[in-house]
Amino acid sequence: MANDLLKGKRGIIFGALDENSIAWKTAERVHEEGGTFVLTNAPIAMRMGKIKELAEKTGSEIIPADATSEEDLNELVTKATEVLGGKLDFVLHSIGMSVNVRKGRHYTDENYDFTTKGWDVSALSFHKVLQTLYKNDAMNEWGSIVALTYMAAQRTFPDYNDMADNKAYLESVARSFGYFFGKDKKVRVNTISQSPTPTTAGQGVKGFDGFISYAEKMSPLGNATAQECADYTISLFSDLTRKVTMQNLFHDGGFSNMGVSQEVMEAFSK
Ligand SMILES: NC(=O)c1ccc[n+]([C@@H]2O[C@H](COP(=O)([O-])OP(=O)(O)OC[C@H]3O[C@@H](n4cnc5c(N)ncnc54)[C@H](O)[C@@H]3O)[C@@H](O)[C@H]2O)c1
Repeated sequence: MANDLLKGKRGIIFGALDENSIAWKTAERVHEEGGTFVLTNAPIAMRMGKIKELAEKTGSEIIPADATSEEDLNELVTKATEVLGGKLDFVLHSIGMSVNVRKGRHYTDENYDFTTKGWDVSALSFHKVLQTLYKNDAMNEWGSIVALTYMAAQRTFPDYNDMADNKAYLESVARSFGYFFGKDKKVRVNTISQSPTPTTAGQGVKGFDGFISYAEKMSPLGNATAQECADYTISLFSDLTRKVTMQNLFHDGGFSNMGVSQEVMEAFSK
C-alpha cells in the first residue's frame, strides 16, 4: 500500500514499546511511505522493550529521552535534526501512563503524587515536546505534529480513572499550542482519538476487555485497530491534510456519534 506519501520527510516517533504499540505500527508505515525518523522512548522502556528490532527493521536511530525532562527533549531534538540531516516534518507523541491506574488507586481515592506524575508523563509532556520543537525552530513549514488521545476526555468511562483528565488537558494543549505553531511556523497540531486498542497501555486499564467489546458492538464500522490508526496518522503527516489543525479527530469506527446500536439493544431486550 506504499505510495511514497512521506518521501523525503523526517521526524521523531515517541512511544514504540513493542509490536502492539500504536507508535510501532506507525513507524513501520512511515518507513513504507519513504519517511525517515528517529525512534525515542523513556530509558526504562528501552530496557524492557524491543525497540532495537524496530530500529533495525526501519534503518532508524534510537535516542532515549524521558518525555518529562526538558533537558532530554532538548538533546533529542538537537541530535535528531543532526542525524536526519535537517529540520523535522512530523512528530508523533504516543505516550501515556497513569500511576494511580498502575497501583490500583480508585478515582475517588487518588494519591496526588501519582496523579501529578501521570499528568506530567501523559499530558504536560506534550506541551514540553511542542515547546522544545518551537524554541529550537526544529519544524519545517507545513510540518505536522500528532498526539494520541481517548474519548474519555469528553465522556465518562469510570475505569479510565485520572487518564480522562490527562487526555482532556492533552487535547487542550493541542489547540492552544496549535494556534502559535500555525501562526508562527505554519505547522499543524492535532490529536487522534483512537478506539480502545489492545496494547500494553490499553490493557492496563481495568475492565479493558469489557469496554473494547462494548465499543466493537456500538461502532458501525467496528473498532479501529492500531494498524488503521497508523494509516490515519500517515494521512495527517502527509501533504494531503495541510490545513487540518487544532482538531481532535475521532478514529473510532463511528463510536463517538452513536447513541445505541442494534447489537447493544439486543443484548438488553427480553
Ligand atoms: N490502547 C488504547 O486503548 C488507546 C486508546 C486511545 C489512545 N491511546 C493512546 O495511545 C498512546 C500510545 O499508547 P499505546 O496504546 O500504543 O500503548 P504502549 O504502552 O505501547 O505505549 C505507551 C508508551 O508510552 C511510553 N512512555 C511512558 N512513560 C514515558 C516517558 N516518561 N517518556 C517517554 N515515553 C514514555 C511507554 O514506554 C510506551 O512506549 C497513548 O497516548 C495512549 O493513551 C491508547
